[in-house]
Amino acid sequence: MRAPSSGAGVVAVLPAAGSGVRLGAGVPKAFVGLAGVPMLVRAVDGLLASDVVGHVVVVVPADQVAGAAALLPARPVTVVAGGADRTASVAAGLAAADPDAEVVLVHDAARPLTPAAVVRRVVDAVRAGAAAVIPVLPVTDTVKQVDADGVVVSTVDRSALRAVQTPQGFRAADLRRAHAGTPDPRTDDAGLVEALGDPVATVAGDPLAFKVTTAWDLRIAELLLAGAAREETV
Ligand code: C5P
Repeated sequence: MRAPSSGAGVVAVLPAAGSGVRLGAGVPKAFVGLAGVPMLVRAVDGLLASDVVGHVVVVVPADQVAGAAALLPARPVTVVAGGADRTASVAAGLAAADPDAEVVLVHDAARPLTPAAVVRRVVDAVRAGAAAVIPVLPVTDTVKQVDADGVVVSTVDRSALRAVQTPQGFRAADLRRAHAGTPDPRTDDAGLVEALGDPVATVAGDPLAFKVTTAWDLRIAELLLAGAAREETV
């Protein structure tokens, strides 16, 4: 058991300002209900349940700030407006984060089933001295590079590949340095740290930390939650 205060010094930025076009739900993806609970609420509660996160900065579309705050009462949460792309949304969250935080996590609202153990592994690795830490899984499919016509150019050696999840963890000063100025949009924050030439460490991810992108992913997440609920009642 960890002491309740072990989240001191760790702030999580939760970018949830995407439109979710690929999900086709008609509302921003983070606000879509998953077994009745919006994904963004599940993601916040998952971070706080780890006992290693003291505060969460939630980043949502500008017209959803009040709505998101209303969904998250009685939690150590700040809600701010996001930007045009994920990198800009994370930068907005970082600007609102406690300047004295030592560790910053960046987590996708679109990974609502991420186990607390993954959050703890990432924070532990940063606390142990890594500047940047990402949770990863081995790639199980064969991966090929194709040209613009879809013709195979090469087969990539998958043994050296990893699929990358969130939360990604950083020494706060290093993430702020990586976001200084106007960085090129990236699909993750470790990419910004890599661009500075700094090492990025890996820890084990978890299949449950998958990203909900399509209606299929949403269905899988619903089925997993239904299965978990059934197991609890037997
Ligand atoms: O689009 P994708 O699924 O890669 O988005 C990953 C995360 O980044 C999601 O949680 C999404 O809400 C967030 N995002 C954001 N601001 C944007 C675009 C995406 O906060 N402008």
